[in-house]
Amino acid sequence: MTDRQLLVTAALPYANGHIHIGHLVEYIQTDIWVRFQKLRGRKCVFVCADDTHGTAIMIRARQEGRPETELIADMQAAHERDFAGFDIAFDHYGSTNSVENFELCKDIWKSLRKADLIAERDVEQLFDPVAGTFLADRFVKGSCPLCKAPDQYGDNCSKCGETYSPTDLIDPISTLSGAKPITKSASHLFVELEKMHPFLDEWTQGGKHLQPEVANYLKGHFLGNPLRDWDVSRPNPYFGFAIPDSPDNYWYVWFDAPIGYIASTWQWCKRNNESLADWWQSERTEIHHFIGKDITYFHTLFWPGVLKSAGYSLPEFVHIHGFLTVDGEKMSKSKGTQVQASTYLKHLDPAFLRYFYASKLGPKLDDIDLNVTEFINKVNSDLVGKVVNLASRSARFVESVGLSVEYPHDGGLFAAAAAAGERIASAYEQLDYARATRLIMELADQANGYVENTAPWTLKKDPTQHHRLQEVCTIVLNLFRQICIYLTPVLPKLAQQCGDLLNVKIQHWNDSQTPLVGTNLSKFEHLLQRIAPEKVQAMIDESKEAAPAATPAAPATTSETPASTGFNDSGDALLAEPMAPTCTIDDFTKVDLRVARIIKAEEVPEAKKLVKLTVSLGGDNTRTLFAGIKAAYTLEQLQGRLVVIVANLQPRQMKFGLSEGMVTAAGPGGTEVFLLGIDSGAVPGQRVH
Ligand code: MSP
Ligand code: ZN
Repeated sequence: MTDRQLLVTAALPYANGHIHIGHLVEYIQTDIWVRFQKLRGRKCVFVCADDTHGTAIMIRARQEGRPETELIADMQAAHERDFAGFDIAFDHYGSTNSVENFELCKDIWKSLRKADLIAERDVEQLFDPVAGTFLADRFVKGSCPLCKAPDQYGDNCSKCGETYSPTDLIDPISTLSGAKPITKSASHLFVELEKMHPFLDEWTQGGKHLQPEVANYLKGHFLGNPLRDWDVSRPNPYFGFAIPDSPDNYWYVWFDAPIGYIASTWQWCKRNNESLADWWQSERTEIHHFIGKDITYFHTLFWPGVLKSAGYSLPEFVHIHGFLTVDGEKMSKSKGTQVQASTYLKHLDPAFLRYFYASKLGPKLDDIDLNVTEFINKVNSDLVGKVVNLASRSARFVESVGLSVEYPHDGGLFAAAAAAGERIASAYEQLDYARATRLIMELADQANGYVENTAPWTLKKDPTQHHRLQEVCTIVLNLFRQICIYLTPVLPKLAQQCGDLLNVKIQHWNDSQTPLVGTNLSKFEHLLQRIAPEKVQAMIDESKEAAPAATPAAPATTSETPASTGFNDSGDALLAEPMAPTCTIDDFTKVDLRVARIIKAEEVPEAKKLVKLTVSLGGDNTRTLFAGIKAAYTLEQLQGRLVVIVANLQPRQMKFGLSEGMVTAAGPGGTEVFLLGIDSGAVPGQRVH
């Protein structure tokens, strides 16, 4: 039989936000595993794609006034740039908005129909009459039906934890337009997952495909009861694929997203002359999915159910990781800890984050913490102090003579490190990168002990010792090389630099088993610089600046993953808006900016962030508006001052009353909101040109 081959996927990032250091936990974890497998000589293909469909993209495209396809193309380019910047090397990176994906969706849909797994029934859903769209749970806010806490999303209450449907909310408002939603009924299509219950019991509980804590979670939360039907359609308007046999309905983004794994593989196959069946419908291929814990349900119940009924291979394993916290807290834009990949790259070397994550990642679902001080110390002490140091304290001395022709006696150091190779490999294989890096650092400690004892810099001073110096440096550089080989999956650049220095490329894990002798050396170049704490601070400061102004109009979230799964905050990046597309002077004049005087500023008791403003536009022309500036200004500071408002903004019905315009402000929000004023002399009602 032909050799087994691996297909590896990481979750498809949403196209509505930029990659941040939280996402990178996953892409780095997966990339390390793939690089490890390849270094061990296995045939392994790593595919991913952008996840492009859904309400969030549709709304964002509307806000930006351009077609969805343009938006997703830009975002995909940014994602690919970020991944490349972190040395995440996909064999193929596709898009769920592809011909291949549509074909596969149709094919899989047909199978589900044939297996009698699709049911149709009407669903009452909240509809935003202003935006003209049905509202996903996360686009509705209101008071919790149980504890009455205000400002809660449509699916669960962050105060008391109650879960409910958005139609249960008290005084719901649409986060898109501020309008009061109406209830509207539409026909939806469901996958009757319960029909797959026996199969899912067996597949999830068999101990082969999931981490034990995941299997237990599924048993405790889902499998003890009949499985709910899974609503896989959304009525028009929606950005996605229209369902061929159900006019006016689209597949829900979470239906076509995982199918994107197959579509991306298919594109890779086409480019590489391979057959898709060989990768997705054959015993020969082991499929490994890597995902974060927030999307467990989709990947461990829904997806296996779909694959099984449509005749595709099931994953060999779904590897689930925990979430990133920074200094023990959820990433925060106001603290600057939600660092975007591109911001990180402006300040720091990607190798630092790859190494740090590796040193933290184990096979469990524990969250991992990036403590900034630990990050700096660990990288500096391990990578610079222990690893790179080996080369910088030896390479220069043998630049002209090269390595000894025979490997000298080293007291068994090389052999011991070679023997450690299998232990390290098995740690990588089991996703215990923390153990792998610990074992490697033990080797580095031993090698550094040898350097201390032999002190090449003293040998250098004594011409009679130059033969000995070459031997010592041959040993040190071989130990260095062994370590670089073991670190290749984590630090591909360093491995490459090591190969360049010693003039022999690192190609296979087993290169660690035989010492290198008799080669010439290239000139020693700096391998890695220490992390300067100021750079980390600069990165954090810049991340603070990237946050948005807090106006009530900003949609709170854009993700369609239900909030009840906890952590998925990718939509937040929507707010860190890139420069808007070019507009004409005509576009600009559509916005009527006016000078206004605040004549009354009042508390809104139920709203944490809002103040109610009555402003004058001259004469008895007054307006009421609500502004999210409560944390930044006292009522006294507001009373009487001039501001600039958007005067022709469509009025919005808010929970507390009608808002007839918007106050303009800059700043990230919260306590940092800066109202736009105007120099003295201006009078209320004047237009801003
Ligand atoms: N589009 C879906 C996945 C579809 S897969 C068929 C999605 N996208 S995402 O952009 O929100 O997240 C991509 C991956 O990054 C997910 O696996 C998610 O768990 C992971 N992470 C997002 N934020 C994270 C942290 N803060 N920490 C660790 N992983 C994080 O979900
Ligand atoms: Zn509640």
